[in-house]
Amino acid sequence: MIIFVPFKAKKVIKLHDTYFKPFITAQQIEAAIDTLVSQILADLGDEIPVFVGVLNGSFMFVSDFVKKYPKPCEVTFIKLASYEGVKSSEDIQRLIGLTQDLTGRTVVILEDIIDTGNTLGEIHRIFKNEAVKALRIATLFHKPEAYKKDFKLHYIGIKIPNRFIVGYGLDYNNLGRNLPEVYQIKDTQHMTNLVLFGPPGAGKGTQADFLKEKYNLVHISTGDVFRYNIKNETALGVLAKSYIDKGALVPDEVTIDMLNAEVEKNADANGFIFDGFPRTNAQAKALDALMDEKDSQINAMIALEVEDEVLVQRLLERGKTSGRADDADETVIRNRIKVYYDETAILKDYFSAQDKYHGVDGVGSIETITARLSTVIDSL
Ligand code: IMP
Ligand code: MG
Repeated sequence: MIIFVPFKAKKVIKLHDTYFKPFITAQQIEAAIDTLVSQILADLGDEIPVFVGVLNGSFMFVSDFVKKYPKPCEVTFIKLASYEGVKSSEDIQRLIGLTQDLTGRTVVILEDIIDTGNTLGEIHRIFKNEAVKALRIATLFHKPEAYKKDFKLHYIGIKIPNRFIVGYGLDYNNLGRNLPEVYQIKDTQHMTNLVLFGPPGAGKGTQADFLKEKYNLVHISTGDVFRYNIKNETALGVLAKSYIDKGALVPDEVTIDMLNAEVEKNADANGFIFDGFPRTNAQAKALDALMDEKDSQINAMIALEVEDEVLVQRLLERGKTSGRADDADETVIRNRIKVYYDETAILKDYFSAQDKYHGVDGVGSIETITARLSTVIDSL
């Protein structure tokens, strides 16, 4: 059987050296345009307006807007160009493209975005000389916090915070105009990505739950990710199962692809807690490479340290109520603990070499241990 693994749909995109995360979907844009069309239609009635798009950014908006406009209308474009040879080019602009006579006409400016309002100021200045009947301003996006002018904005599609966006006609140094949805600049500097370790019975799950709440992290348990993909028969799940069914180990590449999908799904997270991965040097390197691709990194390996005798007692205690067979037998328990130390020794070395290993005393009340973990995380 040949299994096709679908092209990885990247949620976070990179333009030049900057990362952007999804912000406004194509559907949300469409809904905003529908609303703008109805509002403008309600105001203009049977009058034939001249829609004037401001290039370059507005081309997509104008195209989609006029396709939805159900009555006769004219469409034209203008562009504000800086005077050539002038150093402070932002200040002096001239308008090109306005060739038709607009005397007595109702003009609706279609802007992709109104930010400071400087561009709009120029447009107003230029239209003062045209004897138009009315000049109305419609903008798909607006940043109220950045707006410094008093010109009335008659129609506003979507108000956004004062952050840089790309897509749907808007560019970042000329890239991104072709994207059908809108992305927002992403800060990757503040991500906290942890690899959490702890022997069986150390309270890793409990602590992961607290940490993900406190720091808005996403807990990625490899076991859960595997079960999810296999249960839902995702392409990667089917692929992983084909190895498991043969009694073979799932190749690291497949596991990494699954983790990548989880990371992509949570582009908004402040970071991730990796649990159950990496287990080998090769996996640790692959995880580093994955993080690097996201312009991020693993900040720390945190290991909960609990003495063997305490673990054995805790697990035996848990076995009395949990019904888990592997929690009932002392020999089995001691072996699981040994396997843990055999496995993690390599990783402890790997992360210590990068100064990223943090052992945390895992004996005490839940709150005490959370506080100890927080001290480490806050210091990163
Ligand atoms: P203004 O500050 O209102 O004059 O906006 C000037 C121009 O800056 C707009 O026409 C856009 O071309 C560009 N612009 C403003 N904010 C953004 C943004 O978030 N992304 C991309 N371009 C922007
Ligand atoms: Mg513009």
